[in-house]
Amino acid sequence: MKHTFTMISAGLFAALMAGPAMAAEKLTYYCSAQEDWCQLMANGFQDASGIDVNMTRKSSGETFAQIKAEASNPKGDVWWGGTGDPHLQAAEEGLTEPYVSPMREELQDWSISQATSAGDKTIGIYSGALGYGYNSELLAKNNLPVPACWKDLLKPEYKGHVQMANPNSSGTAYTTLATIVQLFGEEEGFEFMKGLHKNINQYTKSGSAPIKAAARGESIIGIVFMHDAVAQAVAGFPIKVVAPCEGTGYEIGSMSIIKGARNMENAKKFYDWALSKEAQALALQVNAFQVPSNKMAPTSDKAPDLASIKLIDYDFGKYGSSDERKRLLKKWDEEVSTLPQ
Ligand code: F6P
Repeated sequence: MKHTFTMISAGLFAALMAGPAMAAEKLTYYCSAQEDWCQLMANGFQDASGIDVNMTRKSSGETFAQIKAEASNPKGDVWWGGTGDPHLQAAEEGLTEPYVSPMREELQDWSISQATSAGDKTIGIYSGALGYGYNSELLAKNNLPVPACWKDLLKPEYKGHVQMANPNSSGTAYTTLATIVQLFGEEEGFEFMKGLHKNINQYTKSGSAPIKAAARGESIIGIVFMHDAVAQAVAGFPIKVVAPCEGTGYEIGSMSIIKGARNMENAKKFYDWALSKEAQALALQVNAFQVPSNKMAPTSDKAPDLASIKLIDYDFGKYGSSDERKRLLKKWDEEVSTLPQ
């Protein structure tokens, strides 16, 4: 009897000791790029590391808001993807953790400058230019002129045919607002946003939704990153991509480790892996046509060529700052979104 008891307790002890070592390693990963790419990155990391990944996809502004709301009890470990401005805001507000990856020497200068401007609390993982796309079949069917510039989108003929996302939830739409203000100046820029509002049929939550709606024929013009419009064209939809004639803004899609991450070591492993050329090459499997930050990662020949697009000198320091982002969004909420259409 005594012997049996000793055997059981010895077995129990061994199981308890083994428990923590055998428990599956975990990573809670917040993603703000396109859903299929988010999923592929989760699976790719899981396969490469054996770490279980729990992924949530939300738009850039929404993820920022979630990380902020969870700050006293962080649930996420790493935030990958989404426009750089809210990552910079998160860095400034102390929501993310500094980290210097050994992968840095493989990265483009624009990726590193994103990191150094934020005290190493974020880093660039891809870039892409803003623009818009239109459904060429519907445009012709409705006898509408072919747009080429930002200001073309104000034409009354386009009433009810233009879609963009809401800049509060979407990084794409915040980039649009900040781009227009930088291109035309704040006063004229807001007049532009008010004029555009008259033509908007819906402000979506996600940045790429407007071009998906145009591809499906539910809308005609979608203001999006050009790579998202290219993805619809490559998928076989009659979408034409426009680099606006006045010039345009761009994003540095970013990645940050969440301050107080419960799985900090795994967050760092993911971070290093996500900067590798192998991880960045996964983009091509899901028609993600952003430009990768690892110099050795392949860029698709279908990706918009940033060198041939008239890019503005987007002021990430200013438009990624907490005060400026809050101020512009409040002004857009009060002066644009509430106007009658
Ligand atoms: O769909 C991909 C993408 O355009 C990224 O390039 C960008 O960082 C992200 O989506 C922005 O998404 P949202 O506008 O929904 O925040």
